[in-house]
Amino acid sequence: MNAEAIKVVLISVGLVAGVSVALGALIVAAERYLLNYGTCKLDVNGGKKVLEVAGGKSLLSTLMEEGIFIPSACGGRGSCGYCKLKVKAGGGPVLPTETPYLSKQEIADGVRLSCQVKVRNDIAVEIPEHLFAVSSFRGRVSRIADMTHDIKLLRIELIEPETITFRPGQYVQLQTPAYGDVKEPVYRAYSVASPPHDNRAIELIIRLAPGGICTTWVFTILKEGDEVQFNGPYGEFVLSDSDAEMFWIAGGSGMAPFWGLVRHMKETGIRRKTTYFFGAVSKRDLFLLDELKSLEKEMENFTFVPCLSSPQQSDEWKGEVGLVTQIFDRKVEANSSAEAYLCGSAGMIDASVKAIQTKGIPKEKIFYDKFN
Ligand SMILES: Cc1cc2nc3c(=O)[nH]c(=O)nc-3n(C[C@H](O)[C@H](O)[C@H](O)COP(=O)(O)OP(=O)(O)OC[C@H]3O[C@@H](n4cnc5c(N)ncnc54)[C@H](O)[C@@H]3O)c2cc1C
Ligand code: FES
Repeated sequence: MNAEAIKVVLISVGLVAGVSVALGALIVAAERYLLNYGTCKLDVNGGKKVLEVAGGKSLLSTLMEEGIFIPSACGGRGSCGYCKLKVKAGGGPVLPTETPYLSKQEIADGVRLSCQVKVRNDIAVEIPEHLFAVSSFRGRVSRIADMTHDIKLLRIELIEPETITFRPGQYVQLQTPAYGDVKEPVYRAYSVASPPHDNRAIELIIRLAPGGICTTWVFTILKEGDEVQFNGPYGEFVLSDSDAEMFWIAGGSGMAPFWGLVRHMKETGIRRKTTYFFGAVSKRDLFLLDELKSLEKEMENFTFVPCLSSPQQSDEWKGEVGLVTQIFDRKVEANSSAEAYLCGSAGMIDASVKAIQTKGIPKEKIFYDKFN
């Protein structure tokens, strides 16, 4: 192809892309300012609740405005798959943005991503009963502490309601208010890092995601004394009722649920044999070391194994060196009756699941929360 032909192709591609973007913007503007869907009837669980709602918003936002909270770890961007609900009637066709998160069976059963479904006419949905127990909370930040160079611990004292009931391992959705270019409040999931007996407050352990909406707000704007909102609790990442030996694996802010869990176990006298592998790059990425080492002394069945993948010379590190999965592999014997609990990045969890399975631990005994 000669230079002239390449120029024509590039201009054509540019034109098509420009027209598509303009059309997209027009549709969004029309949806927002011109189309009025009026009032729609929202039927929840076969008439258990029948609500009159203003049409035009996503099903997720509409339900939230009615005080019904659905898990939504990505804040409604269609990238977490947490906000599934059964839509019995009126949801329109399944969108391409939903299909990656829905199995064939789910699609046949009417399961949808509630953040992608627009309320445009009367709609009937089915919501799991346990989600009606989820509430919205108002609290005041009483402490923001640096755990590492990119991880902070937040303590939020509850104002309304005054107490919270949750199972250790569950998470809440913290509201980030509008700021700067962020025009609407957004919600992000954070595991509760405090134990349930400390029920007048919650603690969160939050790692900065560079350029991220919520974590940038936490790191640069939020200050002690500020009021915040969150809703919850959500999630099934909780201890099983068995007595099986446990292996915990975490990295970075994946520490959060385990910091709550271990203190819960101490408080309630759970004596299950537990080995906690915590992976970090170098010493500056480790935190709560002294606290966990103290718990190791106080709890005879609890062992804490911090692992550094690239310790600096100045770290003078005498502990385990290698990826957390390698250390796990080295130290753990085959044990098909054990359970594994993992928390952190998707990459770390995928690698850990493989390592754990080589020890004979079946998939159904491996529990995790992926943070991305
Ligand atoms: C069940 C669960 C529990 C969790 N618990 C914790 C916890 O205890 N602690 C914790 O730290 N995290 C936790 N997370 C992760 C947390 O919910 C957030 O995803 C994370 O804090 C990032 O949020 P953010 O708003 O700062 O970033 P976002 O705004 O969501 O952005 C995430 C990243 O993507 C990039 N990005 C955003 N938009 C674009 C774009 N258009 N193109 C390219 N890049 C883009 C950003 O720069 C950023 O790096 C949990 C997640 C889940 C699902
Ligand atoms: S809220 Fe994340 S996919 Fe719907």
